[in-house]
Amino acid sequence: MSRTFTASELSMYDGSDGDKPVYIAVKGIVYDVSAARDFYGKGGPYEIFAGRECSRALAIMKVDLAACNDNLADCTAQQLKTLEDWITKFNSKYAMVGKLAHEGCKSQVDDPTMFLRSSPFTPGLVATLVVVVLLTILGAYILYLEIKSSPHGEL
Ligand code: HEM
Repeated sequence: MSRTFTASELSMYDGSDGDKPVYIAVKGIVYDVSAARDFYGKGGPYEIFAGRECSRALAIMKVDLAACNDNLADCTAQQLKTLEDWITKFNSKYAMVGKLAHEGCKSQVDDPTMFLRSSPFTPGLVATLVVVVLLTILGAYILYLEIKSSPHGEL
């Protein structure tokens, strides 16, 4: 299993083309599930898993497109055990054909504004900080001018 698939390359093997094999990825390992087209092919009960990383869906036992990703951060020990059981099954049943390239957390990268939204530096806070810094500099300058203009060079 030498090939590395990007998410979009993997999506080519979603079972929609009858001439191509059907692949799914679990924890970054790509399996050829063509032998089970009844499950994963078009119209099958698990077709949404085809051409996708579906670790989360398998862990939380949901046939749900929104769960077709590798986010296991909030999974319980039981859910992680469920996922390991799936992996044991896939390892014994299907051939591994490659790995999924690690492209970071897709949902975050797809939405660049999330970095702004998740930052503690909201525009209001930044504006306040800028005003505070400017007032401090102004105050220091006024103090400096007063010291300079006082008769003995000091207050
Ligand atoms: C009413 C609920 C469900 C029933 C009755 C059901 C039934 C089945 C049956 C009979 C099989 C074939 C098993 C085999 O021949 O090895 C199967 C396979 C499968 N089920 Fe379900 N299932 C249900 C819910 C789910 C859910 C919620 C998931 C979500 C992860 C799921 C994921 C799968 C997968 C991935 C396979 C294919 C496994 C393989 O590739 O061998 N199932 N299911």
